[in-house]
Parts: sequence; C-alpha cells; structure tokens
Amino acid sequence: MPKPKVVVTRKLPAAVEARLAAEFDTTLNHDDTPMTPQALITAMQSADALLSTVTDAITADVLGAADRRAGIVSNFAVGVNNIDLEAAKANGVVVTNTPGVLTDATADVALTLMLNVTRRTWESERMLREGRWPGFQPTLLLGSGLQGKTLGIIGMGRIGKAVARRARDGFGMKVIYYNRSPVADTEGPAEARDSMRAVMAEADVISLHLPGGGANRGVISAELIGAMKPDAYLVNTARGDVVDEAALIEVLQERRIAGAGLDVFAEEPKVPEALIALDNVCLLPHIGSATIETRTAMGMLAVDNLTAHFAGSDYPARVV
Ligand code: GLV
Repeated sequence: MPKPKVVVTRKLPAAVEARLAAEFDTTLNHDDTPMTPQALITAMQSADALLSTVTDAITADVLGAADRRAGIVSNFAVGVNNIDLEAAKANGVVVTNTPGVLTDATADVALTLMLNVTRRTWESERMLREGRWPGFQPTLLLGSGLQGKTLGIIGMGRIGKAVARRARDGFGMKVIYYNRSPVADTEGPAEARDSMRAVMAEADVISLHLPGGGANRGVISAELIGAMKPDAYLVNTARGDVVDEAALIEVLQERRIAGAGLDVFAEEPKVPEALIALDNVCLLPHIGSATIETRTAMGMLAVDNLTAHFAGSDYPARVV
C-alpha cells in the first residue's frame, strides 16, 4: 500500500522531519516560506493530511476545497485559533493539536516576561548597550519585587497552573484566578474569583492563559483593562486576539498601568508601532514554546496524531 501523502506547511525540527519522511510520503517546506491560501487549498486537494501551524489560516475555503482529499489537519500548536473549527466540523475534517508538551516552556516565558517588566531588565539592558549607563545609583531603574504580591491567572488550565506554581513556589506570590468552569485541582494554594474583572482589579500581575479566537476575541476588553490597578502589570503568552490591543496601548501610553509583557499580538507578525515606541512594555516574538526539546515534542505529537489517523486508532489529541 502506498504511504499516505502528508504536506507540512513550515520547517520543523530535524528529528520530526526525519520521522515524517520515514513514515509518510512527505512534502517538507525546506525554505520555510509561509504557504499562500491557494497553496493550502492545493495541499488539501492533493495530500491525505496537512500538518499546519499557527501561521496557516485554515479557513472555510481551505477546508471546503473542491475535491478535497485530506481528511485531517494536524496542527503543530496547542492553540487552534488559526483553524475554522466550525468549517472543519461541517466538512468532516479531523483537527488535532499538541497540548501538554509545551506547558513548562510557555510557563517559563510567562515568568520571563513578569521578571522583565517588573525589574525593567529590557530597559536596563538597552541603557547599557546604548552607552547611557551613568554608573551605579541608588535610585536608578527601580523596579518592583514579586515577593508577597498577588498573581492573577485568567484561564487556570495546564499552563495557568504551571505559571501559578512557579510564581508561588519560586517567588512567594499569592495566587488568585478566574476560570470559566470550576477547577477541581489547582495543584497548590490558589483562590478562585467569580469574574475576570475581580481578578483584573485585585492582582498586581495578571497572566493570561485562555484560548484565542471565537468568543475569546477581545475578551480582555477596555473595561477590564481599565479595572487594573495603576501599579499592576499584564502578561500575555496566550494569543494576541484575546486582548483589546488598542485599549492596552492606550493605558500603557497614559501610564494608567505599570507595564505589560507580551509574547503574542493580534495580527502577527505585525506589532503596532505604538507598542514598539513604549518603554513600559517587553515584547517577544511568540517564543513561548521555542525550546528544541519542546518544539521536537510538539512535532512528535503532531506526527502521533497523523499515525493514529491512518491506523484508525484513538487520537492522542483530537479537537474536531
Ligand atoms: C503556540 O502558540 C501554541 O499554541 O502551541
């Protein structure tokens, strides 16, 4: 029997590409150029599976392509906001993702952002590199400590819990959280609040861990951002579209909050000039899961989902 044909939309870690090449009739993307909408449609028509990621807009046009051959979109990401899930359902296309394996890496970046904005390390490093350091001064670049402060987690899933654990055990923070449904085990002391607003208004640092897209688009609204304390910080390693980015820029410009740390943006890779111009925000290029160990594990899980699909066995992580 011929091997199933798989199109991989972006370059993946070498060990993952080697496995894909061994197990399937695989088309790799050696030069890593993002695929056009038409190329994605053609892939759905000519292959048995698509291995996609965050940068691929898997729209209703792609999923509903005439004479579609592919029965699965295996997404290399835990987030699936790049995929029109309703259209996948309507067209009978299976969608899988890669949860679990990126929890620690992403939580580490949330803490990186927290430390960077509260200790002003970005700003400090820039001062030194640009030759503007006047030498030690008792009042130069004073940040604020995390010890004894309150961390507010919005979205107490795997990553939210991992961030809470680091903040509590590593930095002595108190943890409060909001989650849409009750959380059976917070894996350590953490107090629930009954609304996002309550968390936003009480916490000294807020870390977002809710899925992007759909009903969550803009859920961290101007009103919620406006409820933050003037000395509070916002950290986002989830998806840019969950935050009203314009409202966030406004409060940062007007210094109505202390700062923000962002790894994700509403229209990646575009980052608003107004954000880049600010010194009270630390900006990272969506590197939450970017360790070789994690990206390899994500790739292997994406391949496991494909293997299960073609074997007719249970998917390790099916979304649709
Ligand atoms: C990365 O952003 C992911 O969703 O895995």
